[in-house]
This record gives sequence, C-alpha cells and structure tokens, in this order.
Amino acid sequence: MSNLLTISKYPLEFLQHVLDLSAYLEKRRNVKPLDGSTILFCFEKPSLRTKLATEVAVNQLGGSVIHISPEEFLGGKILHATEDAPGIPEEREALKDTVKNVAQWCDGIFARVFKHETLQKLAAFSDIPVVNGLCDRHHPMQALADLYTIHESFRSDKPLHITFIGDANNVAFSLIEIGLIFGHHMQFAGPMPCYWNREQLAHFAQLAARHGGTFSHGTDPLPFVKQSDVVYTDAFISMGQEHEYAQKLRHFEGYQVNEALFGKAPDHARFMHCLPAHRGLEVTDAVIDHPNSLVYQQAKNRMVTAKGVFAILCNPEYRLENPVPATEQHPSSSSSSSFKTTQLIES
Ligand code: CP
Ligand code: NVA
Repeated sequence: MSNLLTISKYPLEFLQHVLDLSAYLEKRRNVKPLDGSTILFCFEKPSLRTKLATEVAVNQLGGSVIHISPEEFLGGKILHATEDAPGIPEEREALKDTVKNVAQWCDGIFARVFKHETLQKLAAFSDIPVVNGLCDRHHPMQALADLYTIHESFRSDKPLHITFIGDANNVAFSLIEIGLIFGHHMQFAGPMPCYWNREQLAHFAQLAARHGGTFSHGTDPLPFVKQSDVVYTDAFISMGQEHEYAQKLRHFEGYQVNEALFGKAPDHARFMHCLPAHRGLEVTDAVIDHPNSLVYQQAKNRMVTAKGVFAILCNPEYRLENPVPATEQHPSSSSSSSFKTTQLIES
C-alpha cells in the first residue's frame, strides 16, 4: 500500500510527479479523480490549513470526507472500564480491527497525530493509503506545498539557498528533506538545545550528497540570511510543547525574524512560514506582512498539492505510468514525471 508518512521515503521522480499533477489539477476543476471516494480525517491536534485545504481539495476532486474523533478511531478508552468493572480491557477494540473495518468503507486515511509511531501502526494495518497531516517529526504535506510555492515564486530550475531559522522540528525536517532531494542549498540556524541530533544531521548530509545540493547549519542565522533566496521560520513552541513555553522562549532569544534580520537578506529574498504564526514571537508584523512574504500563497498551495497527493494515492489511474503532459507540468519540472507509485511501499 502506498502511504505518505515522510518525504524522504520517496524518490525525486515521485515528488516531482506530485507537483506536476497538482499543477495540472489546479487548472482543471472539471477533472474528478476522487469521484465516489471517501477519505477519513482524524486529528489529534488542532488544525486550520491542513484540515480545510485538504477537505476542499478532496471535495473539488469529487470525493467526500468523514471526520472521526481520535477517541473513536485511535483506540479510545472505554469510559466505564474503571472501578466498576475491573479487568475489562481499557481499549474499545484493537487498532488493527478499527483500521481493517475503515478500509471496507473508505479509500484513504488522513491523520494528524502526536506520535509518528501512531501513523506507522495505522499504515501497518491499513489496506488503504495513510497520509500524514503532521506528527511530532514530519509534515510532508506542508513541505510539498512549500516547494511548490518556492518553485512557483522563482520559476527557475537553478538551486536556491533556503534558510530555516528556529526549532529543529517537524516542519523544518520535512522542508530540509524535500529541498535537498530537489538539489537546493538548505541552511539551518537554531539554538543548541533545540538542534538536530547526530543521526538527523547524517541523514541530511547523505541526502545532500546524493542529490547534489548542500546542507549547512549553525547557531548564528546571520551568515545564512545574507545569502538566502528564502528565509523560513515556524513557531518556537509547537503544539503539545506548551509546558516548555518559558524555557523555549529563552532558547530562542535572538532568533526572531524581524526587519533587522530579514533586512540583511538580498532584496529578492522571500519570507515563508507554515502558519499558524505567533506575531511578535518568531516573526514580526513587518516581515510576515512584507511584500516578499509568501505565507498566504503557501496556504493556497496546501490545497493545490493535497490534490496531487490524494489523486495519486487513491486513484489507480494515476498510479500507473501516466505522465502529465510537458506543457501542463509544474514550472520547476525538468523532465517527464511518469512514475509507477505502485512500486512504493512505506511502512
Ligand atoms: N501549516 C499547518 O499545518 O497549519 P494548521 O496547523 O492550521 O493545519
Ligand atoms: N511545528 C508546528 C507546526 C504547525 C503547523 C507544530 O507542530 O505545532
């Protein structure tokens, strides 16, 4: 079964095919590759963009969405299994049974979860595609929309310098992965307590070596900002980390993307943020509202690239060799992106 849990499990050709198909479908509101399909949405954390953009995308492709609560879908506790009934299993039913049932009625699962392991368990049992709508380690749907936005904005196939300033977390991880797979020069600046571990750094170095880009990192954002085509940041305190608020704010002193810092970037540099932004914390109004800010274009493209992902994963027609015509491809595309997604297995 083809799932989308992380970016780097996929080769460049597949990711390029997602972008090309997204561009194709963006212009073709009459094409309905999800006609008659139903996607189950389950969110353990709040969401605006991921939930709405993807639901609108599924609807526009002819499919429909059903929302289920994490309590019902991810092994909710039986409310009465306490003192009155000792010995009753705590879980309502095994996750395997839930997921196998869902596959009798639905064509895909879209889930936002606290732990990546939850997605891996879903994928292991699932007979239908599982798509990651953000977890503690990855945000692949955001990364696809961000790369689409970057290529749409620069319309060049030259490698770009893309700087992420802030927390070594889910959004940064997937962005660095996709940037490196497309051969860009990825730069990261963040404070040591919120930094990548050795394994993650080795993974980025390996991707850079394999795809011809570079990965540079350090604690001082300034040298990176000075040579940036894109400056990107995310919340300093992510969902679920609220208890670390005071400590993290101390760590991130000096990492705010404000006029003084963004002013050191070349004039053409764009600002990006996945949103939600905490105006006045990781970014100031002057930067997020700057004419070079792409934040709302990124949000628009969450819907565009969600179409490419769900069309490919849920419609067999797009899983077979089915190149998007060259004239219809995304501006960044350098070659025909015909690719068999049936070859992909991710657990
Ligand atoms: N960028 C993003 O995933 O936003 P939401 O948390 O609103 O979905
Ligand atoms: N890093 C943020 C991203 C939100 C889209 C979080 O995990 O809350």
